[in-house]
Amino acid sequence: MSIDQLADIAQAMVAPGKGIIAIDESTATIKKRFDSVGIECTEENRRAYREMLLTTPKLGDYISGAILYDETLRQSTKAGVPFTKVMMDNGILPGIKVDKGAMPLAGFPGELVTEGLDGLRDRLKEYAKLGAKFAKWRAVITIGEDMPSGTCIEANCHALARYAALCQEAGIVPMVEPEVLMDGEHDIDTCYEITEVTLRSLFGALYEHNVMLEGTILKASMVVSGKDCPDQASVEEVAEMTLRCLKASVPATLPGIVFLSGGQSDEAATAHLNAMNQMGAKPWPLSFSYGRAMQSAALKLWSKDLVGNLAAAQQTVYARAKDNGLAALGKWK
Ligand code: 13P
Repeated sequence: MSIDQLADIAQAMVAPGKGIIAIDESTATIKKRFDSVGIECTEENRRAYREMLLTTPKLGDYISGAILYDETLRQSTKAGVPFTKVMMDNGILPGIKVDKGAMPLAGFPGELVTEGLDGLRDRLKEYAKLGAKFAKWRAVITIGEDMPSGTCIEANCHALARYAALCQEAGIVPMVEPEVLMDGEHDIDTCYEITEVTLRSLFGALYEHNVMLEGTILKASMVVSGKDCPDQASVEEVAEMTLRCLKASVPATLPGIVFLSGGQSDEAATAHLNAMNQMGAKPWPLSFSYGRAMQSAALKLWSKDLVGNLAAAQQTVYARAKDNGLAALGKWK
């Protein structure tokens, strides 16, 4: 695939007023979400839940793509229509999580490095055949005492760059996600500093690995106060510092940036995105790629009566997509 084709996909992912829904929870992670609402984590329940999300009427009005987990990419609706077909028919690009999770970084207690490069070339070839247009790899950076180490940042950014280059070789747009965790008591200035160092390292690694930025999307964490910091930054501060940090470290050739929600409330995730988009001209579209902040209300509703509450759950998904789509334009109220 040519760079122009990759660039077209990347631009479609961040089309005005549209964003991504992340429903790529691994089986272990979706089990935690199901446990919290008393749903058994069977393959059929996972399939039915993802069918509810993906068949939300008119979801494509505000959603340009959905990130799936390996199992989901291979599944179909109850009526037998592959999820990838349902998505493409509704203008939603299929994406696939391809990392194998964050594992302890040997020699660096408390720090993580994301695995999954071995065999990735072949897996990507198969995912492309199954219809995936973009992929996701999540690296995790933890803030704590003497953390993160430079080694942790470098190891994760190196893996992200190798993953991104393999994606482009396979004709798949890489979404690169270096998540700086919200966990901890640190203040917003610390988050700013760590996020900036991480992004600079990431774009350095992408450059070293000949990754074409025109066909790449950044999935970023916002610059926020640590969850347990006594001094919580305002919406305006978060928006202003996140924008400043991105402008200082992300090349303007990138087609777009989407944010993860990372444990923020639904309302905060939307308000922060909206505030950033009200702050005047910027080099790239800023949109969303939320998991929890798109799904949590719908999961609660759906879990009460899987079939009976399907329409209500889908209305909630649509409402979250609409709010975040408006926030991607700075028009949310
Ligand atoms: P959250 O929005 O729940 O953080 O999930 C987004 C995601 O895909 C993390 O990799």
